[in-house]
Amino acid sequence: MTHIPEVLEVMESGDNSTSKKTERVLRVPYILAVFASVIFLLSLLVSTFLFYKYMACYEENHMAENLESSLKTFENLYSLKPVKNIRLPKSIKPESYNLKIIPYIWEGNFTFDGKVSIVIRVLDDTKNITLHALNLNISEWHVRESSELISDHEKFPDEKEVEILDTSYDREREFFILHLADYLKRSSQYEVHLRYTGFINDDLQGFYRSSYKVADQTRWISVTQFQATDARRAFPCFDEPSFKAKFTISIARFANMTTLSNMPIDEYAKKTNELPANYVIDTYKESLPMSTYLVAFAVTDFNQLSDKKFHVWARQEAIDQARYAMNLGSKILTFYEEFFQIDFPLPKMDMIALPDFSSGAMENWGLITFRETTMLYKEGVSARFNKESVATIVAHELAHQWFGNLVTPEWWSDLWLNEGFATYMEYLATEAVEPSWKILDQFVVDELENVLALDALVSSHPISVEVSDPSEINEIFDGISYSKGASIIRMMDHFLTKDVFKRGLNNYLTKKAYQSATQDDLWNALTEEAHRTGVLEQNTTVKQIMDTWTLQTGFPLITVTRNYDTNYVTVSQSRFFINNENGTEHDKNLWWVPLTYTNSFQLNFKETKPLHWLKAERQIQIENIGTSEDDWLIFNIQQTGYYRVNYDEKNWNLLIKTLNDPIRYKSIDAVSRAQLINDAMKLAHSGYLKYSTALSVSSYLQYELEYIPWMAGFSVFEYLNYMLRRTGSYDKFKIYLSYLMTKLYENTGFFEKSNDDQLEIYRRVEVLGYACKLGFEDCVRNSVNQFHSWRFAPQPDTNNPISPNLKGTVYCTAIRVGGQREWEFAWQRYLKSNVGSEKDILLSALGCSRETWILSRYLEWALNETSGIRKQDVVRVFTAVSNNVIGQPLAWIVLRDQWNRLVKYLGTSLFGLSNIVKAVLFTANTEYELNEIIHFALKHRNDTAHANRALLQSIEKARSNLIWMNKNYNTIVSWLDNMVSQLPSTIMENIV
Ligand code: BES
Ligand code: ZN
Repeated sequence: MTHIPEVLEVMESGDNSTSKKTERVLRVPYILAVFASVIFLLSLLVSTFLFYKYMACYEENHMAENLESSLKTFENLYSLKPVKNIRLPKSIKPESYNLKIIPYIWEGNFTFDGKVSIVIRVLDDTKNITLHALNLNISEWHVRESSELISDHEKFPDEKEVEILDTSYDREREFFILHLADYLKRSSQYEVHLRYTGFINDDLQGFYRSSYKVADQTRWISVTQFQATDARRAFPCFDEPSFKAKFTISIARFANMTTLSNMPIDEYAKKTNELPANYVIDTYKESLPMSTYLVAFAVTDFNQLSDKKFHVWARQEAIDQARYAMNLGSKILTFYEEFFQIDFPLPKMDMIALPDFSSGAMENWGLITFRETTMLYKEGVSARFNKESVATIVAHELAHQWFGNLVTPEWWSDLWLNEGFATYMEYLATEAVEPSWKILDQFVVDELENVLALDALVSSHPISVEVSDPSEINEIFDGISYSKGASIIRMMDHFLTKDVFKRGLNNYLTKKAYQSATQDDLWNALTEEAHRTGVLEQNTTVKQIMDTWTLQTGFPLITVTRNYDTNYVTVSQSRFFINNENGTEHDKNLWWVPLTYTNSFQLNFKETKPLHWLKAERQIQIENIGTSEDDWLIFNIQQTGYYRVNYDEKNWNLLIKTLNDPIRYKSIDAVSRAQLINDAMKLAHSGYLKYSTALSVSSYLQYELEYIPWMAGFSVFEYLNYMLRRTGSYDKFKIYLSYLMTKLYENTGFFEKSNDDQLEIYRRVEVLGYACKLGFEDCVRNSVNQFHSWRFAPQPDTNNPISPNLKGTVYCTAIRVGGQREWEFAWQRYLKSNVGSEKDILLSALGCSRETWILSRYLEWALNETSGIRKQDVVRVFTAVSNNVIGQPLAWIVLRDQWNRLVKYLGTSLFGLSNIVKAVLFTANTEYELNEIIHFALKHRNDTAHANRALLQSIEKARSNLIWMNKNYNTIVSWLDNMVSQLPSTIMENIV
């Protein structure tokens, strides 16, 4: 391991240099000496006092002195965080809720009155009724014995009333507790009646408000976002996913507004005495049994489009952009009914696009909420990418209607079941409804590769993870739950084969419908099917295999070592770490690994059914692998296995030889070419392979023209870009990458062609993005010209000549090479645009400026909603500024010095903060920066609860970047030097 100098050493060496200066003998007058002695004695006294005072903080100061031990301290503090038991008692379960909400929403008053009656069943003796409530002012409570025959609670005779002695509130657990005089009768039913008031907040959680402007008038709407633990902010409830109940919901509104909820309307616009003038109340039909986090309601003045039972809602000015989501949504719903072999159980589906929304979209049963950019698509203005993301997100949320809503994880530790499945289904459903997009080919690049990087950190976590308090729950909505979840499900789909997988799912969903489940329930259903069909041997279960992937952190590196004489192959596994620090204590994990392979003779890149398994064993030998010594061997076909592969040097050289042949490289399938680039460069990065070998693999990109391998290329070079961009050798890197891209750029060209297919469109977007960043003269000139023609177009707000797909590159480039005029022009377009995707692109591009003061002002504006930047978009601004080499230090200053303001502004359950932390810090690679981050983390260790994991991951990332720099910088620079010296000097001429 490379030695990381400690802070102490640095400080000592600093002192040494000063002490050298004071070695000179000073001649001091006598009187001065006496004066100095008095001062000395005084300061001795003071320092003795201070010493004792500071002894108390000794431990803390000591920690800060030493970088490595500081890191350990932070890790320990993090892992020792007391796990409090925050679960509800199991003695009572809710059966149904009758909820009535009267929201008052106009400027200056954002409150609501609420009334809830909950029918509960007593399962065990108890004298308490404990439910969740947060920031609610509960003013009335009654409990009555219930009878299953009487449903109208208002008519109960008084003698049925249960005596309540007292109530209490447990702040830590967010519990509201009714203390009763007597025990409740076991197996009986009771009704709990509560009246309360609440605040319609602007934190985008619970019951919150959102606004938009028409002309200069502000319109207010109110909506809910309950996942994971925020239903309790809107009504007292048993707010855990396994407590399913039926909901009857009534919402009051101004007569000219509309309400929406999970179910269709039962009673429309009723007037009652308790409502203010010009208010009416809508009551919705009783729901099916469901979890609280899936309850939703909204009060808006939106317009709608309908297609039979499918409705979409948006602001009147944007409703025409909702048509694509509607048409696609109904097709996808049908696809799932067929795929799961279970009908969608609700009578209707609403999808609504909200101006303020914290995540991307939320799968509330029958009422899916979206942020505008993830549901709205405007032909001719939005890019192809936006269309694809509308499709995948609609597909994701619709998949949850089965996976999550019909069958729900028992507790949040199984969140990955929800999110992993929905993420995998995004690809299958989109493939089915938009087959020309070939979206399945993108899975590896978009999900698998990204998460392998995250999962290679020591501070990663198992997919199935113990979580307790709300901040911990929110933290696991991360790449591990989503992308790793999706990747291991995809692996399972391939090793079980499609039909077994589908039938197993159907069994699981049917058996567990309207209930909650754990991953073991799913494994059992799949095992049953796998045994029935003989896909798995009787003594092997899906649980046995999958537990190794869900309960252990990380993933294996598979090392393939060939014996070229005997034609035997040894396949071994060990955990892959981003820094291969030998003998690490964490390396005990073993996985069940499905093995697939092909060779230069068979060239079979389709067969993904495993030929062998590593059965949680360190290594196996495979005989007769069917190759001669001049043939290469490739493992992990289509990268369906969640692992990386390393080979012996000779096999790598055989691969390099084939790849670096301008014709023969095509004999290796494009997905495998991408995989080889990724595996080789990541192995070198982590110290498992020589960089010269990995760079020789990727140098074949000079011939490569296809999108998928280049995506791998761009992503591995991205890391070098970030590491080298502040160093004196950056030009070598730029020249080399420009050289690799020369043919690709010529082949792609700046301008779109009318018959471009999806991958061609994407290829151009990526190629131009990099080419402009590297300063390709043609790319920069065309971008600047296009931006210029937009700037001088007559009404630029309705008249934008730039192709929607190229806007990201064109705007960013023109703002980067331009000045304040370009920036202000784009800012005005941002303020005026009515299209979410356009606003997003502009927000990102505004971070490309090279003017420090503009970037600082931009960050300031991001934290002040009156500027026009919504809270939901703060992460986008910070990410854009941090990606810019000039902006990153500015973003860090704001994060560091205005932490409390950020925490307050973003609210506690927004995972925005974690994303900001990661976006700002992931490129840190100097000792000074690492030290700063650790000190920051220590200083805020008590108030970073919601970003703790992000901080821990950032520290590990920065440390690993630093080690990487120490270890590889010189090697890479001399390799690049050598390459560049052999290149024609003309390359430089085309770069500005
Ligand atoms: N269930 C989530 C929404 C969510 C995320 C709620 C985090 C609470 C905390 C939803 O299904 C989801 O996954 N949304 C994604 C979009 C998806 C297509 C990846 C999101 O919001 O990013
Ligand atoms: Zn989801």
